[in-house]
Amino acid sequence: MKKLKTFLSCLLVVGLQVNAQSARPVYLDPSEPIEKRVEDALSRITLKEKVDMCHAQSKFSAKGVARLGIPEVWTDDGPHGIREEVFWDEWSGAKWTNDSCTAFPALTCLAATFNPDVALLYGKSVGEEARYRNKTVLLGPGVNIYRTPMNGRNFEYMGEDPYLSSRMVVPYIQGVQQNGVAACVKHFALNNQEYMRDHINVNISDRALYEIYLPAFKAAVQEGKAWSIMGSYNELRGQHCCHNDLLLNQILKTEWKFDGVVISDWGGVHDSDQAVQNGLDLEMGTSTDGLTNNGGVAYADYYLANPFLKGIELGKYTVDQLNSKVTRILRLIFRSTMSKDRPFGRFVSPEHSAAALKIAEEGIVLLKNNRQLLPVTVGKYKKIAVIGENATRSVTLGGGSSSLKVQYEVTPLEGLIAKYGKENIVYSRGYASERSSKKKAKQLIVPSDSLINAAVETAKNADVVVYFGGLNKNPNQDSEGSDRKSYELPYGQDKLITALLKANKNLVVMLVSGNAVAMPWVNEVPVILQTWYLGSEAGNAIAGVLSGEVNPSGKLPFSFPKKLDDNGAISFGKESFPGDSINEYYKEDILVGYRWFDTKKIAPLFAFGYGLSYTSFEYGKITTDKKSYNPDETIKVSFILKNTGMKDGAEAVQVYASQAHASVIRPAKELKAFKKVFLKTGESVTVELEIKVQDLAFFNEVTHAWSVEPGEFILRNAASSAEVKSNVSIKVL
Ligand code: GLC
Repeated sequence: MKKLKTFLSCLLVVGLQVNAQSARPVYLDPSEPIEKRVEDALSRITLKEKVDMCHAQSKFSAKGVARLGIPEVWTDDGPHGIREEVFWDEWSGAKWTNDSCTAFPALTCLAATFNPDVALLYGKSVGEEARYRNKTVLLGPGVNIYRTPMNGRNFEYMGEDPYLSSRMVVPYIQGVQQNGVAACVKHFALNNQEYMRDHINVNISDRALYEIYLPAFKAAVQEGKAWSIMGSYNELRGQHCCHNDLLLNQILKTEWKFDGVVISDWGGVHDSDQAVQNGLDLEMGTSTDGLTNNGGVAYADYYLANPFLKGIELGKYTVDQLNSKVTRILRLIFRSTMSKDRPFGRFVSPEHSAAALKIAEEGIVLLKNNRQLLPVTVGKYKKIAVIGENATRSVTLGGGSSSLKVQYEVTPLEGLIAKYGKENIVYSRGYASERSSKKKAKQLIVPSDSLINAAVETAKNADVVVYFGGLNKNPNQDSEGSDRKSYELPYGQDKLITALLKANKNLVVMLVSGNAVAMPWVNEVPVILQTWYLGSEAGNAIAGVLSGEVNPSGKLPFSFPKKLDDNGAISFGKESFPGDSINEYYKEDILVGYRWFDTKKIAPLFAFGYGLSYTSFEYGKITTDKKSYNPDETIKVSFILKNTGMKDGAEAVQVYASQAHASVIRPAKELKAFKKVFLKTGESVTVELEIKVQDLAFFNEVTHAWSVEPGEFILRNAASSAEVKSNVSIKVL
């Protein structure tokens, strides 16, 4: 009897569960396929609720459907860390006490690692922090191409080469999204300057568009499976990119089959018809005081708000157009906040500090090391002079929307003191920048000569001088909203560097920047490093490299021109860059960066892909597995690499390709493969790389398709775009 009772009660429980199961709507059942959940949810949401999901409700959020338990969509900057919480409808911080984040290095530093594994670590770590802060969308990464050294936001992007950017952006996105947070790759597309960014109309050939400016976005979408993408402010061929039929409907959603959400940049929407019809899904940041009509546009007046709803009611727009947007937004929600597998995230953890340190250490680029002055091992010198405002200045602040409120930031001076001991370090400011913070703090503007004199005195009496200069994310000094006004270092730094060199020949110059800068002293200064904006662990990473505990292995993700006019875009004058305030013509076309320098035979100051090590590497002859290939085959490239120096180290080997006799103009060579190889001293390895024959294609404007012409191609292994080691010829059949 007892058994029967137990059996019957089990049946009852199962029956109730089945009943509950069948009573639970499909959209709420995380075991149901996402597309079925989307369809079911769509059928339950009213017209007004759907329209409300297509535009902001606050500075960084959009409505969900509370009635149905569908959460709001919360976005937040930025590519290098999770921005502090702001007031509902303001840019300014809300002074929370629990939103100080880990600052990871700027993406130029990530690109300089030439290591996709590090990009995965980066995405995973910053994604964990976004998840912990309950963000649906992380507004990053940025992959706009480095067209000139003047762009204020180059520090947020991954350099001048579409292949490097493509290989590095994919794992970053995968790392972020494994946390159940959508990456939002930006700014799509051609946002390559800040000057007149909200309307400058880019005129560009299909070849340059497809071969240079789109590949990183295509990889982000097709390989990274990005769940969202951000339209850019500028225009392309006469239409704003946030609602651009060519970019969003034809290329992104049709050619690339993007199934995510197109989010506007903040204030990037200008027209309801275009916003409805040209591929935009979620309108953010349209100029508004947010909640009322006075002083601007309330959220209800956004282009995709009441005008959209009224347009549907009047038959001007269709419900299908609305459902297409809401379907994508629901898909993003079911992939993220309503996913059953969503992890819990993590905020400001020792693991994130370790990740920030690793990325920084691997991204620092050693440009020059004469007399083997470096490394400065601990104990080698008693008196180390540290000079320069960038040794003590926070560089996680500033620069626009990627600015961060950090839990901590180890400055270069703090890092060196921790490494070498306070008693061995003496500091002098050397130069003073203008105050960039909102509070025009009373600052002692010391005439630069007295700062220089004090610094020279400090340098004179030291065994070695370590100078920290460069830019600093002030307006016009690597910042959103303002391009640089000159190529030279600001604040009288060249004069200071020259004076320091006279005072002490043991001078190490550390450049903190996200852009190339002029270096009139390049031949005289014995040691130069490019140290980027390195985030919370900056000082520890720099101290690690300076002391030799870390062997530098970074390589430049963009070229340093000797002088500004050597840059392709700039050499064509104002129409080419920055434009005539209405139009801009990309006259250098496909010849961007080293493609320009190589093809025009102009020697750069430092080449794309260049970086030294404390050890040395020997490259063997490049070989391929066959002599000829069909168009659908993969070329197997190999060569020996040997660590011939006295220290373990890593080398980012590169393989460039060129077509011997093309029917169109093609660059002298193009990066088609790279790998970061770690070798112990004396160790050698056979490096093996693969290049798809299809990757040798150019974009054929006649057929509007990629085309690989039969014939000879040359493959070169290289330590940089200017250091080819050997070459091999292959034939495409
Ligand atoms: C900014 C930037 C964009 C950022 C957004 C939100 O204007 O262009 O990168 O994510 O607005 O801050």
